[in-house]
Amino acid sequence: MDYAATRTEALARIAAAGDLDSLERLRVEFLGKQGSISALLKSLGGMSADERQAQGPQIHALREWVTTAIADAKTALESAALETRLAGETLDLTLPAAATPRGSIHPVSQVMDELAEIFADMGFAVATGPEIEDDWHNFTALNMPESHPARAMHDTFYFPDRNEQGEEMLLRTHTSPVQIRAMKGRQPPIRVIAAGKVYRSDSDQTHTPMFHQVEGLLVDETSSFADLKGTLAEFVRAFFERDFEMRFRPSYFPFTEPSAEVDIRWDREDGSERWLEVLGCGMVHPNVLRNCGIDAEKYTGFAFGLGVERFAMLRYGVDDLRLFFENDVRFLRQFA
Ligand code: PHE
Repeated sequence: MDYAATRTEALARIAAAGDLDSLERLRVEFLGKQGSISALLKSLGGMSADERQAQGPQIHALREWVTTAIADAKTALESAALETRLAGETLDLTLPAAATPRGSIHPVSQVMDELAEIFADMGFAVATGPEIEDDWHNFTALNMPESHPARAMHDTFYFPDRNEQGEEMLLRTHTSPVQIRAMKGRQPPIRVIAAGKVYRSDSDQTHTPMFHQVEGLLVDETSSFADLKGTLAEFVRAFFERDFEMRFRPSYFPFTEPSAEVDIRWDREDGSERWLEVLGCGMVHPNVLRNCGIDAEKYTGFAFGLGVERFAMLRYGVDDLRLFFENDVRFLRQFA
């Protein structure tokens, strides 16, 4: 067999293959299982040792040539195809990129952070506690023993099971249990604020089953109602960035005595005025101090609590509380 001629012919056909498909057909024709060169290799088995010695190297060399030629041709065809594709495609680097949607801080979170910051500037440290509370921290320690009528005002969500101490479990109805946790096992001076979610089974234009409170507590040897008034006046001024006429209306909370509700005078655009209730406060009830192991003869304290949403509504002129929780991005985006 004239291997040189076979080789020349095969290489010529490979060089002439115009695309990857015809090249693949040639590969099968020469090197596939039934291919002509594969058949030559197989025929070695039927040869005498002498013949094999003479033909073997030539057949192997032929296969080598053809294999290499096909691989080279393949690379050439592929890069030619890539060249053509690149030449046909135009990439416009001046096109603006697709916009990535950007999130923003929820208005209630913004206001809560701001409130915490104002009190932090006055020296209050931020305290935290669990949202799932036991009855003792949420009520009993706050001078609301079982069957105390004030408990009914809280529309509490209870859990079906009690804890290991046999205590009823609930979603905290206010952030005051955090004050209890801050006082227990610690001695005055104490100056903390608690900010977070609270829960009450209630829903209408001005109530949602979950809302946010910020509460402050100060306990030391000399704290007085005058200090409380001064602290709150300073806070209202810092938040609204102007002075307000404030009114302390006598009120009732089981955990403070005396207690007051604070109103600020809100002047409407049409010139009329309105008193807006913005927070509750009072001097910490001695029973509460005692429940936390603090000497009520030696120490006094004041506390206040406010609804964050209320302040957000006043700040932004929003009149339906539920808007804050529907999370319609068209509404939320306005606060970005
Ligand atoms: N914890 C009270 C409430 O949620 C608010 C409050 C706190 C009132 C501290 C007085 C003092 O109703």
